Amino acid sequence: DKDMGADLAKVLITQDEISAKLRELGERIDQDYAGRDLLLIGVLKGAVMVMADLARVLHSPVTMDWMAVSSYGSGTKSSGVVRILKDLDVDIAGRDVLVVEDIIDSGLTLSWLLSNLGSRGPASLEVATLLRKPEAAQVNIEVKYVGFDIPNEFVVGYGLDYAERYRNLPFVGTLAPHVYGG
Ligand code: PRP
Ligand code: MN
Ligand code: MG
Repeated sequence: DKDMGADLAKVLITQDEISAKLRELGERIDQDYAGRDLLLIGVLKGAVMVMADLARVLHSPVTMDWMAVSSYGSGTKSSGVVRILKDLDVDIAGRDVLVVEDIIDSGLTLSWLLSNLGSRGPASLEVATLLRKPEAAQVNIEVKYVGFDIPNEFVVGYGLDYAERYRNLPFVGTLAPHVYGG
């Protein structure tokens, strides 16, 4: 079926809810980094939509860079093995860095990423994520900007994929069981 709508079970977070939340987070980020020179680091590929929309509600000029890491492969469970597929282009020593993520699930990707980035000597290192799942609470990571705490369901859309598909849904939703090969 080529119609994504037919693959959905339900919409969890609407486009309007996402954009309202990003405006909220954006105001906090604008205030917290007033007068500073903020570097946003988007975690490819999931964070593409959050990065694009969050960056556009900020009022101060930021710079952006990207890192590609992957822990999921094509399945729905984290393997715990994080691979760098693309490193940063810039040196972050002495920079104010804000990592932008779409979701923190097990927290494994982020805790690995934060220790990796932390060792490069940034002036500050914080995290903004659109979504966070309950399991993430068990990993000792401090996340300053959280959009939504969501239940432990597999979600897609707004950057989040299942086997690389559904990233381009403009909202966050869950998939119908038949999509998983039922
Ligand atoms: C997903 C998601 C986060 C990470 C969260 O990325 O975008 O980066 O998993 O999972 P965790 O908290 O359990 O580590 P994924 O590895 O699927 O790569 P992608 O962004 O390219 O889809
Ligand atoms: Mn990701
Ligand atoms: Mg993925």
